Amino acid sequence: MEPFDRQFVESINLLRLFASIKIMNLDDPVCLCFHVSRRKVMSFIRVEKPTRGSQLSECQGAGTGCGWCRDLLERLLEESRESSAEMQSERLSAEDYAAGRARYLEETGRQPPPGVTPMEDLTDPAADRTD
Ligand code: FES
Repeated sequence: MEPFDRQFVESINLLRLFASIKIMNLDDPVCLCFHVSRRKVMSFIRVEKPTRGSQLSECQGAGTGCGWCRDLLERLLEESRESSAEMQSERLSAEDYAAGRARYLEETGRQPPPGVTPMEDLTDPAADRTD
């Protein structure tokens, strides 16, 4: 294989890798316990102008379950204050975020509050079927 061809194939493989990564969008849940979307949190921050991350719990209970999302909630609040357009949280993949929470729950022994939808049900496409 010519060097040019190898570079081309590597570029295509990189493009495939990037295409397979689903970056969190505004409607993906930030708080996986209470299914509070990033859009809801950003809207809450814009309207209510909280000064502390703990105040984000007033947004549909975000952060009051297992605690996994508190760092991201704090980051969203901090990023809303920064003028920089470079927002770290916008590069998270929904799958990596959910996998991180699963590891967090396993490592800390914490549990989502009773009554919330278990993550297996959120990620299992069969759970959406009604047959
Ligand atoms: S993911 Fe938000 S409290 Fe559990």
